[in-house]
Amino acid sequence: MTEPTHNTSLILPSLLAADWSKVGAEVAKAEQAGAQWLHLDVMDGAFVDNISFGPQMIQTVRKSTSMYLDVHLMIHRADHYLERFLKAGADNITIHVEANYDSSVTETLKRIRAAGKHCGIALHPTTPFEAALPYVNDIDLLLVMTVVPGFGGQPFMEKETMPKLAAARDYRDQQGLKYHLEVDGGVYVHTAPIAKQNGANLFVCGTSFFGPENTASAMQELQSVVA
Ligand code: DX5
Ligand code: ZN
Repeated sequence: MTEPTHNTSLILPSLLAADWSKVGAEVAKAEQAGAQWLHLDVMDGAFVDNISFGPQMIQTVRKSTSMYLDVHLMIHRADHYLERFLKAGADNITIHVEANYDSSVTETLKRIRAAGKHCGIALHPTTPFEAALPYVNDIDLLLVMTVVPGFGGQPFMEKETMPKLAAARDYRDQQGLKYHLEVDGGVYVHTAPIAKQNGANLFVCGTSFFGPENTASAMQELQSVVA
C-alpha cells in the first residue's frame, strides 16, 4: 500500500463514472493507467439526492485490485454502517461533517483509526473550513467538495471552494499538520491546476478519467498538469 505524503500529487479515478456493466475491467483500466488510489462514492439517497452502491461493491473491487481504496461516504449514520465498510476492505474512509451520526464525527473517526485504517472528513461546498477545526488533529485527509455532492459531471465551483482550500492548506502548514487535501467534482485538466495552486494534492477524477476512450492518455494528461 502506497502512503504518499501531502506533497505528492495523485489522480484518483472515481468509479462512479465507470461502466458498471464491466466493473472489473474498469478497475483494471484504472490500475493499468497508473492509478495508485481509487475513489469510491457511497450515496444513501438521504444525505445526498442519489443512490449509488454500498459495502458489497467495495468488497467486489477489493477482490480485484491492490489499489488503495478511498471510500467517500455520502451517507447519514456512517457510524452505524462503519464495520461493513471496514470489513469490505476500505483503506481510507471519509465521512461528512454535515451528516447525522448515532454517536458523533469524533467517535466515528476514532473507530476508523482503531481499525488501523486512514480517515478523512469532507466539507460540502457551502460548509466553511472552521467546521473542520475540531477534527484536524485526527484526520489523514480533508476532502473539499468542489461540487454539490451527489452526481458526477458537474462544473467545478472555483469561487465558492478555492479560498476554503487555501485556508485549509495554510492552517495545516502553520500548525505542522500532515493531512492530505483532496478535491472532488469537476476536476479536469483545466481545473486541476487551480486546485493544486490552492493546496490540493489528491485529485478525484470521474468523468475526466473514465469519459475519454483512451484512459491511459487521460491519466497522463491529468498527471502532467498536477505534477
Ligand atoms: C460527486 C462524487 C464524485 C464524482 C465526481 O458527488 O463525490 O466523486 O465521482 O465526478 P466528476 O469527476 O465527474 O465531477
Ligand atoms: Zn467522491
